[in-house]
Amino acid sequence: MQITQVLLGEHGVLYALFEHIEAGIPKMEALADVQRAGATLAATLGSHARIENEILFPALEPQLGPNGPLRVMRDEHDEIEAALEDVVNAASLDAALGQLRHAVRIARDHFAKEEQVLFGMAQQMLAADELDRLGAMWAETRCGLGQRNLTRPA
Ligand SMILES: [Fe+2]
Repeated sequence: MQITQVLLGEHGVLYALFEHIEAGIPKMEALADVQRAGATLAATLGSHARIENEILFPALEPQLGPNGPLRVMRDEHDEIEAALEDVVNAASLDAALGQLRHAVRIARDHFAKEEQVLFGMAQQMLAADELDRLGAMWAETRCGLGQRNLTRPA
């Protein structure tokens, strides 16, 4: 499976998490509730961003260079991570809620840029077998098994 397809699939799961968290905001009455939601987002979005930073972006760097769109995407990953750290470290319920809403908003904007621009660039710049090879790296990273173990019985 191509890396761009699997990353879109991860976005789908993360959109479901965004919706779940946003729907729960009116019921968050304690700072700890908001901090838990922020920590859940930090863990899931953080692992998704690492996959992009370590598997997809290096494959695009020979053509795009380290600056330009890859710099923007990496900076946005850092911005999302920092916003979620602010949720977890917030001193008041209101501050935490404001940061949580901000973090989800910038994560959604970032996903839209990847879907509308970056993933399309990747599909144009990388050959189909390279996109598949990166997809296999994703599988190995995600499940720790590797495709060999998934497709061939021992
Ligand atoms: Fe990203």
